[in-house]
Amino acid sequence: MLGFGREKGLVGLDIGSHSIKAVELNPKKKASENLYEIKKIGYELIPRDTIVEGTIIDSAAVVETIKMIFDENKISNKNVAISISGNSVIIKKISLPSMDTEELAESIIWEAKHNIPYPYEETNVDYAILRPSPYSEEKNLDILLVAAKKDKIANYSNVVYQARKNLEAMEVDVFALQNALEINYSEILNEKTVAIINIGANITNVVIIEKGIPQLFRDLSLGGFFFTENMSKDLNISFDEAEKALKGIPVKNFPSEQLEASLRTNIENLLEEIEKTFSFYEVGEKKEKKIEQIFLSGGLSKLKGFPSVFENKFKTKTEILNPFRKISFEEKKFDAIYFQELAALFGVATGLATRRLEK
Ligand SMILES: Nc1ncnc2c1ncn2[C@@H]1O[C@H](COP(=O)(O)OP(=O)(O)OP(=O)(O)O)[C@@H](O)[C@H]1O
Ligand SMILES: [Mg+2]
Repeated sequence: MLGFGREKGLVGLDIGSHSIKAVELNPKKKASENLYEIKKIGYELIPRDTIVEGTIIDSAAVVETIKMIFDENKISNKNVAISISGNSVIIKKISLPSMDTEELAESIIWEAKHNIPYPYEETNVDYAILRPSPYSEEKNLDILLVAAKKDKIANYSNVVYQARKNLEAMEVDVFALQNALEINYSEILNEKTVAIINIGANITNVVIIEKGIPQLFRDLSLGGFFFTENMSKDLNISFDEAEKALKGIPVKNFPSEQLEASLRTNIENLLEEIEKTFSFYEVGEKKEKKIEQIFLSGGLSKLKGFPSVFENKFKTKTEILNPFRKISFEEKKFDAIYFQELAALFGVATGLATRRLEK
């Protein structure tokens, strides 16, 4: 989506509002189950308020952090793929009758003008034709329309250019996550209806995929930042202390029952919003549909016991999406424990890094 460029050797760069992650993968030469090998990896936290509501406010801080990640982890490849999300990015699934390419291009522009809540001139539009759904009897083309506001694209591209990197592709988070699932869990992806829920600091991406075909996308304004903010108010502690408490680091001078109560309320609110999104999918169409498996990703999914919280709520098998499941690494260079720690954070970045290599 919104891509322009070369075929090989990308660094997936996930510019999040809590941390920036970068990963470079090498395709494996020998045929084996592991298609990729991690070449380089790194991440850094960024100061709070650097990115607010999906807009990079302090671009100098982001540029410095990107440079630092590349320098400290000796990433010499300058070709990067980044992603954007949130309400300046609209993804719509439309259905059009079969037609020739020229007519299709015209129809897509027409659809874009009528489906996007922003002036057409202010957006960049791209599309992808989906493979036919196994359920559809009609000969229609299912098309994913992606429109991103030009100011959002400029806001994110600028930091890449200022960090002296080559922007080779711009993707949306949900597609990067789908890529990560595809290379690591293809057997499940192609057989089942799955949901990926990526819970970051400010945004929770939800994507529902039916036998490999994406059906629903949502970017919810939810995440760890709101947990921390509410906990700091509920417990009358600083934001930084609340952040520690969220990560399970003991904070002195307040009873743990209070912490647990605050955390529980936040989790319940999050689950309710996700339930609404699920219901929209499951009840929204004629056929009865059911999500059969949930994959969690994002920093907040590291909350202790979180997969079982989802299993209990949705009565659906839930696990953390491990974006390195079928990716190998040199044991001399990296520590396996390190990858376990990073797995939840690297869904988007890994999906971005595999984007072009697999073609
Ligand atoms: N071990 C942990 N336990 C609980 N929460 C955690 C843990 N580690 C990180 N978090 C929370 O996860 C969030 C960061 O997740 P992530 O790195 O996925 O976000 P991001 O990609 O930077 O943000 P966004 O995509 O929303 O802009 C923060 O709110 C942080 O407090
Ligand atoms: Mg994120």
